[in-house]
Amino acid sequence: MKQDNAVLAALDLGSSKVSFLIAKVNRSSELLPDPLKNIEIVGIGVAPSFGVKQGVVIDIEATTEAIRKARREAELMAGLRVFETLVSLSGAHICSFDSKGMIAIKSKEVTAHDMERVIEAAKAVTVPSDRQVLHVIPREYRVDHQAGILNPIGMTGVRLEVVAHIVTGSQATIQNNLKTIERAGLKIKGIVMSQLATAKAVLSEDEKSLGVCVADVGAGSTHLIYYVNSSVAHMSQIGIGGNHFTQDIAIGLRTPQSSAENIKISKGYCMTVGISDEDTVEVEGVGGRKSRLIKKKDLAEIIEPRAEELIAFIGHDVEKSNLSPFLGSGIVLTGGGAHLGGLVEMAEYQLDYPVRLGLPKNLGGLMDSLKSGRFATVVGLLIHGWEEKLFVQVQNETGDSITPSVQMMADRLKNFFRELF
Ligand SMILES: Nc1ncnc2c1ncn2[C@@H]1O[C@H](COP(=O)(O)OP(=O)(O)OP(=O)(O)O)[C@@H](O)[C@H]1O
Ligand SMILES: [Mg+2]
Repeated sequence: MKQDNAVLAALDLGSSKVSFLIAKVNRSSELLPDPLKNIEIVGIGVAPSFGVKQGVVIDIEATTEAIRKARREAELMAGLRVFETLVSLSGAHICSFDSKGMIAIKSKEVTAHDMERVIEAAKAVTVPSDRQVLHVIPREYRVDHQAGILNPIGMTGVRLEVVAHIVTGSQATIQNNLKTIERAGLKIKGIVMSQLATAKAVLSEDEKSLGVCVADVGAGSTHLIYYVNSSVAHMSQIGIGGNHFTQDIAIGLRTPQSSAENIKISKGYCMTVGISDEDTVEVEGVGGRKSRLIKKKDLAEIIEPRAEELIAFIGHDVEKSNLSPFLGSGIVLTGGGAHLGGLVEMAEYQLDYPVRLGLPKNLGGLMDSLKSGRFATVVGLLIHGWEEKLFVQVQNETGDSITPSVQMMADRLKNFFRELF
């Protein structure tokens, strides 16, 4: 591979699917008008996930297998062997809080070294030994009495303070997740909170500056992150996700989970208003019974209370965060569950905030197959890797320099999705 090409890899362990992406980056083209287009996705691997529940690995064997499968798919598509990856982490074991740090400015002008020292001071809070610090995110700096500074380098003063958002997680749970990834033959290049990655994929700078909440409606749970004045202000989690809707439909219609999932995705709508009594949906029978027709309105009646519950929980979370007056850009719903018919409209009506569906930003290469909230986290990991220059070790399949042709990649992608659905 040429010197000016670097490679990024991203792995998201979701409750419904494991996804792995490989991207090439032209290091020397950072100043292009649309820099994200520099990240050229060349490999996509997605495998069903049965061993992850709400971000935590509950079956190491099954998850290792899913990671291997997703990795292999992506590698075949890219024509590259990848040995390292960035990974996302989520789960109820993760918590975050604000911490302050303060130092004396040595040479009367703030230097990069002072910034490192003040962050270290904020980090020096007592974190129990069974917890691991995942991120220290500066929210604002203060130089003497001046607050609200985003970058204090070069400023004159005697005292530098920082308010930082500290994210910690259970050491044992994190180690289990990482061990599973390493068992699949991948070294960990970096760990990123899933909410942070998701926000990088779906938010604009304007939204972060005006204040916004992102709710990633996944399979098992919903992960939230709040931005105020362009910095992270809060993160949380709600124990309801898309799978709860599927379960309700399976029970309500007495149909297998797989059929309930198909019905939800193809015909599901979460509001009964506006649905005609004439509209019908075919439902697969259980245990060899014949399929039958039901009213679409009856299906919406099953989905509606769960959607109202999820939105009410999001509303409570916003209230509890005390950030509701600062969310000028409202709420962005993403994740696979956000695609449920009518959910965005219902949230807007029930919460009285502007609400939009968040799709991952356009990167270069094979982005077309990833334009769904399901892939927001893994696409955001690539963006984070690019911002932080977290490039990974790779080898060409044959040991030679291989640059797969666009046609070859498109053919592989077509076959891959044909097998998946
Ligand atoms: N078009 C759609 N309409 C309704 N629901 C959908 C649609 N597409 C996907 N979903 C639902 O989204 C959920 C999967 O979302 P996603 O892929 O974001 O979850 P995940 O990342 O695997 O899980 P988690 O983030 O909870 O660990 C499933 O419950 C699925 O049924
Ligand atoms: Mg997810």
